[in-house]
Amino acid sequence: MSRNLIIYFSRRGQNYYNNEITFLEKGNSEKLAEFISDITGADMFEIRTVKEYPADYRECTEAARKELQQNARPRLEEYLGSARGYDNIFIVGPCWWGTYPMAVFTQLEQIDFTGKKVFPVMTHEGSGLGSAERDLKRTCKGAKIVRGLAVQGSRIEESEQSVRDWVRKYLK
Ligand SMILES: Cc1cc2nc3c(=O)[nH]c(=O)nc-3n(C[C@H](O)[C@H](O)[C@H](O)COP(=O)(O)O)c2cc1C
Repeated sequence: MSRNLIIYFSRRGQNYYNNEITFLEKGNSEKLAEFISDITGADMFEIRTVKEYPADYRECTEAARKELQQNARPRLEEYLGSARGYDNIFIVGPCWWGTYPMAVFTQLEQIDFTGKKVFPVMTHEGSGLGSAERDLKRTCKGAKIVRGLAVQGSRIEESEQSVRDWVRKYLK
């Protein structure tokens, strides 16, 4: 039987939600990752940075923009050293300036993706998948990247059926 893993990043705190800034106790991508785990039985690994991102939305967008411009690789609290034993790997995270937060790439670069199937999943407030699929193709060498899933962060509950349909279509 295939084994499934979810690698996710999510930030609680102030965020843009339904056109206004709201405080989220649980991040959107974490909610979506938990839902995908419920329907696939996947194990979960959370990417956490040593230096936390600002809870303030505007400060966080500035910190994230700098990291993107510098192509930074922020240090992590814990690293997943290998994905041995897993066949399918979901990469779940928010759209930050059109791609995943740089910390996601810090983690992905630790893993040998040869022969794995990778599922791009992004929550966003308008940009969809941004360059997620392209960036994963470049980073997850030797993996087959399936067509990604974009879910608007403020619409996760309403999107459950489309998430199920996408999983059913690509997880075989
Ligand atoms: C630093 C930062 C940058 C963002 N950049 C974008 C963006 O370029 N496009 C977009 O649609 N949403 C953007 N957003 C909104 C988030 O992608 C969206 O709220 C996401 O669901 C947050 O997920 P999380 O709660 O798991 O962190 C940004 C949010 C933050 C905090």
